[in-house]
Amino acid sequence: MAKESLLGSSIGRKFAMALSGMFLMSFLIIHLACNLTSLFPDDGSTYNAVSEFMGYNWIIQYILQPVLTFGIIYHFVMALVLTARNKKARPVKYAMNSPAANSSWMSRNMLVTGGVILAFFLLHFIDFWFPEMNLKYIEFAPNDPERFFPELQHKFSNPIRVTAYVIAFVLLMLHLLHGAQSSFQSVGFNNKKYTPTVKTASKWFAILVPVGFILIAVYHYFNSLM
Ligand code: HEM
Repeated sequence: MAKESLLGSSIGRKFAMALSGMFLMSFLIIHLACNLTSLFPDDGSTYNAVSEFMGYNWIIQYILQPVLTFGIIYHFVMALVLTARNKKARPVKYAMNSPAANSSWMSRNMLVTGGVILAFFLLHFIDFWFPEMNLKYIEFAPNDPERFFPELQHKFSNPIRVTAYVIAFVLLMLHLLHGAQSSFQSVGFNNKKYTPTVKTASKWFAILVPVGFILIAVYHYFNSLM
């Protein structure tokens, strides 16, 4: 620590990684809340209004969206850096090392589950984000405030896409089951009284958020069959 600055040290990198993870978790709550409005029995009018607000509010578009993009890239790049440094620090595994007994599958496979989420991002951006950016900033098409809900319904009428999304959401759950509670540990939150509550809340967050996304995708798929 003496030679390295806090953010350049291993603890500093873990801290920064945890903070970026917490930031992405707060995005997930907002994103889920916005998308859950597509389940309202109002023919998509709330979802259209929310999507238009999120898509045209300048603070969201020009400040929060770039911050989010940076947060996502930072989180993934730091994950690779941390893994590479850990491997370098301990190239030969301890003879007594028994990973399965000492840690969960989730904690040992954060890079795998994170990689699947990254692949999901590519699919998801091709589905929703790139067409939106193209419409607004390349074609400069006039705004149709009713377009968001039919687009969502159309995307989730494809069973292959819905299956790919559901698989990604299950991996997101596995990623969060370790990541959510570990982020609190990494930022140094350690309190005899509150740590068990934080652990339980993290677990519920890790389960309920992906289940909410699964519900949205599956609901719109079955709705498209009627
Ligand atoms: C059923 C589930 C989901 C639906 C219906 C959905 C819908 C959308 C839509 C419509 C957009 C484009 C917003 C715009 O720019 O106008 C978007 C963007 C995005 N989504 Fe999702 N999403 C879902 C799940 C997820 C999940 C689980 C994640 C993260 C793990 C995620 C991450 C993102 C990101 C990073 C963006 C780009 C930033 C933004 O524009 O907000 N989405 N999503």
